[in-house]
Formats: sequence, structure tokens, C-alpha cells
Amino acid sequence: MTEKDIKKLKEIDSEINLLSHTSSILGWDQETYIPSGSIEERSRQLSLLSGLMHDRLTSDTVKSIFNGIQGENELSLDSLNDTDKGYVRKFYDNFRKQAALSSELVRELSRQASITQSVWIEARKTDDFKLFSGQFEKLLPLVLEKADSYGYKESPYDALLDEYEKGMTASSLDSLFTPIEKKVRDLLGEIGSAPQVDDSFLRKNYPSSLQGEAGSKLLSPMGYDMNRGRLDVSAHPFTTKLGFDDIRITTRYDENYYPSGLYSIIHEAGHALYEQGISEEFKDTCLGEGTSLGIHESQSRMWENFIGRSLPFWKYFTKHLKSVFPENLAGVSEKELFRGVNRVNPSFIRVEADEVTYNLHVILRFRIEKELIEKNISVKDLPSVWNELSRDLLGITPDCNSNGVLQDVHWSMGALGYFPTYLLGNLYCAQFYRKMESETGSLDTFIEYGDFSVILNWLRKNIHSYGSLYSPGELVEKVTGESLNSDYFISYLNNKYKKVYNF
Ligand code: CO
Repeated sequence: MTEKDIKKLKEIDSEINLLSHTSSILGWDQETYIPSGSIEERSRQLSLLSGLMHDRLTSDTVKSIFNGIQGENELSLDSLNDTDKGYVRKFYDNFRKQAALSSELVRELSRQASITQSVWIEARKTDDFKLFSGQFEKLLPLVLEKADSYGYKESPYDALLDEYEKGMTASSLDSLFTPIEKKVRDLLGEIGSAPQVDDSFLRKNYPSSLQGEAGSKLLSPMGYDMNRGRLDVSAHPFTTKLGFDDIRITTRYDENYYPSGLYSIIHEAGHALYEQGISEEFKDTCLGEGTSLGIHESQSRMWENFIGRSLPFWKYFTKHLKSVFPENLAGVSEKELFRGVNRVNPSFIRVEADEVTYNLHVILRFRIEKELIEKNISVKDLPSVWNELSRDLLGITPDCNSNGVLQDVHWSMGALGYFPTYLLGNLYCAQFYRKMESETGSLDTFIEYGDFSVILNWLRKNIHSYGSLYSPGELVEKVTGESLNSDYFISYLNNKYKKVYNF
């Protein structure tokens, strides 16, 4: 690998970045303001752009640079500095994956995923599993073909997971998740036998416009740069990168449950802060984005749960919130708000789940999709397997498939191997937070005074600035000095819920 090769890669990479950000603009518009009549042409616009990106990434120039290389360890990187090493590795990984797929498979996957996703919307609305499964049965073999094309050592699941969380495998997830399941169940038992929390004051009428006013005021103290982003409303909250200097977030408001809108804003702002904090040096390159979904989720959840659902946060925010909603919150204390937003209650829907049962929702999905990918169960078994596992893990059986196996969009998009990153995010987060406090001292007083700069500066320096230079595993080692360890998250949960439930 020569300087000249790297220069060539960077020229192509810069165009891929422009195409990718252009495609994000179209995607953002599709989720926010597009008139419904224009959806059909929009999907063709997006598909054209992904074709162009595929062509650039697998062009003859790139092929000749990586000619004969059979895997990452065959790249000759010894003469390069750390940044160039990381850059070539990342580019090669993207190239290897794209080049492994025939253009026929890429087209078929995209076409069938788009059909399955639109059918899923209807199936969820009408609670019709058969409608969904008819198309999902056509999508699944294509996903398996993708896994085979990427290649794997132990399980085809590993090949799919690697797209979202580089270096992670199904067997390492098994050994991480099994003890978590037991400890979370134990904690749920303790919570269940303690006096329950009242959150009725959060379930009054909260008009969207006032929620927006109260929530968006947090963005500036958090450090979100409005000159490089904006906040809009969409059906499902998300963060998207429309350019190196344009990282937008969306939220939604539930007028009958206040925390939903507030925590969507904080969560998405957490994702956006990661992207806004990436070093300028990585602009226009494949290193200029967060390194994995799990690390991304560690950032959003840190702001949402570790900070936003803490008692110090409510010492800071209660007064402000009460000035916006004086009647709804009359006589409600900081401590009651803290306890209210942390109420634990096993429920059917993952995205509405509390911080404790959320983990079991993820474990349920991981177990099922792994069995599906390894062909131990088939698509038609999904509802019964789902319901049984839900009874076992959460103690409740969904009243219909729309509140069970049909609730999430991921499988209909062909995104299998994605769910575990949500739980990995919690684990990374707890480990990072512990390390941060060991260096900065307790962060409680800063949070109580609404001074988030110490936190943001630490995250910028240790995590955000690196973009994708390190894989998630390398980053955890580099930042905390050890590999991923779930003990930190378990002790965080236990300490926190002792305070919420007074046991
Ligand atoms: Co997220």
C-alpha cells in the first residue's frame, strides 16, 4: 500500500461520501416533509444513488489496489501511520463486503426488502402475520445468501452482525447476554415486590407545542450545535447525517405521556453529538462517522438514561419543566419526577420499555433471529416462538401479533443481526461512564447545575473525535483499558433501581 494508492482511495471516497450524504437528504425528506404522491420516484432516486455508490466502491481502480488480498490481515500496512492504517482497513472492509455481493443479489435484496417493508406496515396495522410472512419468506433466503457471500467461521449470524458491530460474534453475545438475563430477572423480582411508583402526573395532557419548547431548550446546554443541525418531527425519531456539518435529529410527541418526546430528543441529540464531535481530519472519508451501531447507542443512551433519567438531572430540570406545565406538575417533587420517569413495568412494546425490561426485549429478539438464521426454526414458527419466549422472559404474552412479533420494522428491511447493538450500547455506555467518572470525579454536581461541558469534552476527546478509526472492541480497550465487561452495567442498574424503588 503506497501513498499514491491512499490518495486514489481518498478521491473515490470523497465522492462516495457526497453520494451518501445526498442520499441522506432524500431519506430525511422522505421521513419528514415529502408529499405522499412522490414516494415511488423517491425510492428510484435512492436506488440510483446506492447503485452509483456501489460502482464507485467496487471500481477497477479500487479492485486493482486490493488485487489478490483475501482478508484484512493480508493488507500490507506496516509502513503506514496509525490514521492511514485505520483508514485503509475501514475502506477495505467496506469494499470487501460490497464486492462479495453480486449486483443481482444487491438489486434483489433491495427490491424484496422494499416490498416486505411496505407489506409489514399493512400487516402490523391489520394484525395479519400471514400477509407479512408471505413476503418475509422470500426475503430471508436473500439475507442468508448475503451472509454466505460475506463468509463466516462459526455462524452465518456472525457475518450479518459484523455489518453493524464489527468483530462481534453470536457466541460472544451468548456469553455476554446469559448472565445479564439472570441478573435482570433477579432485579425485576426485587422491583416487583417493592411498593410501586406513581407516574400518573406524566400521563396528563401535554400539548406538543409546549413539549417542543421545553425539550429543545436542552439542546444548547448539551452542546448540540444548531449551526450544524436542526430538530424536526417525524413518526419515528432518528438522527441522520446530511453532510459533515449537517447532523439533524427528529422527535415525536405523545400528548398523553410526557417522557416519550423528551427522551427522544435527548436520545437523538446524544447520537448527533457523537457525529458533530468527529475530527475534521476525517471529513470526506469513511472514517468520518461513528464506528458502530453499538458505540453510537452507547452515546445516545448515556445522555438519555445515565444523565437524563438521573436524580441530578431532575434537580436541574424540574423547575424549568414546572414553569412550562405548572398545572400538570403542581406539587410534584424532583424525586417524584425522577422516580416517575424510571417506573419499571414489563410491557409488549420494546420502544416503550423501561431501562430494565428493555434488555430482555433485546435478548428475546437476538435468540429468535439467531435460530432463524441458523435454520433451527422457520418463518411460520415465529409467532409461537415469540409468544413463548415473551412469557418466559417478560412474564407476559402479547395479546396480538402487532404487539408481538410484528412490532419492529427491522426484519422486514432484512436487518437481521441489528437488535443486539441496542443492548451492547448499554454495556459500552456503563463501562465508559465508569471510566469517565474515575477521571473527572462524580458528575452529579455538574449535571445538577446543567453544566454538561465536562461530560461532552471527555466524550469528544476519548470517543467522538476518533470517528471510525478504531473498531468497537479496540475503542473500548483503548478508552477503558479492558475488553467489554457487563458487570458495570449490572451494578449501574442495581444501584439506580435501589434508589428508584427504595429497597
Ligand atoms: Co438510538
